[in-house]
Amino acid sequence: MSKPDLVAVAPLPAAQMAELEQDFTVHRLPPKPERAAFIAALADKVRFMQTTGFYGADAELIDAFPKLEIIGCFGVGVDAVDVPAATRRGIIVTNTPDVLNDCVADLAMTLILAVSRRIVVGDRYLREGKWEATGPMPLAAKVSGKKLGILGLGRIGKVIAKRAKGFDMKLAYHGRQRQPVKMRYFDTLSKLARWSDFLVVICPGGPATRNLVNAEVLKALGKTGAVINVARGSVIDEPALVAALKNGTLGGAGLDVFADEPHVPAELMTMDNVVLLPHVGSGTVETRKAMADLTVANLRAYLRGEPLPSRYN
Ligand code: 8YV
Repeated sequence: MSKPDLVAVAPLPAAQMAELEQDFTVHRLPPKPERAAFIAALADKVRFMQTTGFYGADAELIDAFPKLEIIGCFGVGVDAVDVPAATRRGIIVTNTPDVLNDCVADLAMTLILAVSRRIVVGDRYLREGKWEATGPMPLAAKVSGKKLGILGLGRIGKVIAKRAKGFDMKLAYHGRQRQPVKMRYFDTLSKLARWSDFLVVICPGGPATRNLVNAEVLKALGKTGAVINVARGSVIDEPALVAALKNGTLGGAGLDVFADEPHVPAELMTMDNVVLLPHVGSGTVETRKAMADLTVANLRAYLRGEPLPSRYN
């Protein structure tokens, strides 16, 4: 029996790509200029699609394959997949929750520590010979005992809370709904920001959260506060963030994600109170393997008529 056809929008790591090839005839989506011919040849055959949280699948791509049944997304955030368009056609979307909670939470704590203890600045200070030439660097700010506001107390938010407790931080959160947890809840984001020393953003991306962290929220966080974003760049109004950092309304930022990745506003690059990372929240060998394994497991389960490990819609 011939293997079913699968379109790979962006490849998984080599080992999991090889696994997909055992069960599917994998067609790698070519760059845009070659796409029309690719789609014309495959449109009526493809039932499976694999993509990533970054590349996603827009309505145009989904609609190019009328027989599409399932999209396996490598990543927990599916904001780059047009899930409403898929759902309207009864197409299943799967993602990779839970397996990345530890690493993303670890990175949130890393950014909190790096911003407040000025880790990157200190490293540069030493390498540039300033320690030897001019003596100790200026003092940083303490983390333990400070107030951490969590925007989005989902799976990852809860793991961040667990880690922050180990640093004796005071915790509070804001989200669409109050949850049955023993943690202070603020019914608006501005109130949470006013209370917080650090505001960690870990809610889903997409239209519902676009620019939620706006100029007013950043002002409420204040000149000694810092925003940490390990969610999606779209959740923060990026021009407002740059302005707040520039005029001192906001104290600092630790950013793993940006509005228009991989583009990062040039003004952020010159700021010492900002730590910038190239979207590496889940970027460890162990976690990326677990995510890729889960992506393959979902597609295989569907092929075999078995229950899906992590269906999103
Ligand atoms: C990945 C992520 O970098 O899971 C997510 O939502 O943002 C990251 O883990 C991304 O999905 C890979 O494209």
